[in-house]
Amino acid sequence: PLVLHVLGARPNFVKAAPVVRALGELGVRQGIVHTGQHYDALMSDVFFADLGLPEPVANLGVGSGTHAKQTAALLVGLEEIVLGQDPGLVVVYGDVNSTLAAILVCAKLGVRTAHVEAGLRSFDRGMPEEVNRIVTDSLSDLLFATSPDALSHLAAEGVPAAKVHLVGNPMIDSLFSALPSLDPAPVVARLGLPDRYAVATLHRPANVDTPEAARELVSSVLEVARQIPVVVPIHPRGRTRLAEAGLVDGPSVRVVDPLGYVDFLSLVRGAALVVTDSGGVQEETTMLGVPCLTVRPNTERPITITHGTNRLVTPALLPAAAEKALADGASTPSGELPPLWDGAAGPRIARVISAWLKGDNLSP
Ligand code: UD1
Ligand code: UDP
Repeated sequence: PLVLHVLGARPNFVKAAPVVRALGELGVRQGIVHTGQHYDALMSDVFFADLGLPEPVANLGVGSGTHAKQTAALLVGLEEIVLGQDPGLVVVYGDVNSTLAAILVCAKLGVRTAHVEAGLRSFDRGMPEEVNRIVTDSLSDLLFATSPDALSHLAAEGVPAAKVHLVGNPMIDSLFSALPSLDPAPVVARLGLPDRYAVATLHRPANVDTPEAARELVSSVLEVARQIPVVVPIHPRGRTRLAEAGLVDGPSVRVVDPLGYVDFLSLVRGAALVVTDSGGVQEETTMLGVPCLTVRPNTERPITITHGTNRLVTPALLPAAAEKALADGASTPSGELPPLWDGAAGPRIARVISAWLKGDNLSP
């Protein structure tokens, strides 16, 4: 049987690469469908190159739009491709609109599915991702969890435990693979940064979609920049609004294009501080031991707070929190990293999938 991976957005590529590699090593027949949700070279191609992902068998080119328009285009495109490819299993990743659309299409066609990064919950349905997570988990046949809290969320939602596997975090597998190539020096030199700097990534709709939110956030980031130079690889979603709110390239705030995976992680590795609203970056800073301030009211990744370097902050509290983090450095409250974030999540997922394909899954 064919395993089809449906990928659409930047974080999907990072999560899928170790799974694709490990399934390949087990000789499983597989292909990637790129939905085209992210399409700029710096949001897509660079990840295929940096992560060694094989060429997609198809690119649906759905592009951007409102949630309804984008999801509708995804549904139509994915239905056709799933019917044409006739996969034995479709694997979806994370919580983006491509994930949601693929799971809906497969559920209606009776095609079996696996969800990588199941069970994360922010309990904030104002986030589009939270809606995508709940629907995706409720319809998946195999659920791969990255952290123990996910197991209790899924149990509470009535997902049978037999479908759920705690396997660790494939995004951390990718980080481990990249580790030997991570060198801040060339990126720092190219961007003209001093040795001591902070990195910020900001793209959550709640932070960048309204002028009011953007203004509040930008004024806080500019205050941080009075303490330490800040480099902002800008996600296309917030580019215009954050610029209108005053986030412009200058000596203390460097606003640059999105960075490739190896360049970005190199920069993070050398940073004194990271400010973010990204999901994945909360996890990567935890593993790299870099202090992370997450500008959000909640996180679906609380393990990065209990076992990592992450703190939640409001925009108003960001400058003071940055001052404290810069003074204290990184600290991990439990002194232990999250369980199974060991670089072997991909092989664990591949073993479960491979056994499942051979029919070892037929218990209730
Ligand atoms: C999506 C995910 C979000 C994830 C993020 C990762 C959903 C609902 N959201 O958000 O969970 O954290 O990806 O980066 O799926 N754009 C470009 N070029 C691109 C892609 C997007 O310019 O290659 C611009 C377009 O103006 C577009 C906007 O970014 O309207 C938003 O893109 P979209 O894919 O809808 O959502 P993201 O904000 O990227
Ligand atoms: N990332 C990157 N270049 C950047 C910003 C982020 O390579 O300029 C990587 C980051 O290391 C992580 C992934 O993109 O692996 C996270 O994607 P993003 O923040 O867009 O999405 P989220 O995790 O919030 O869904």
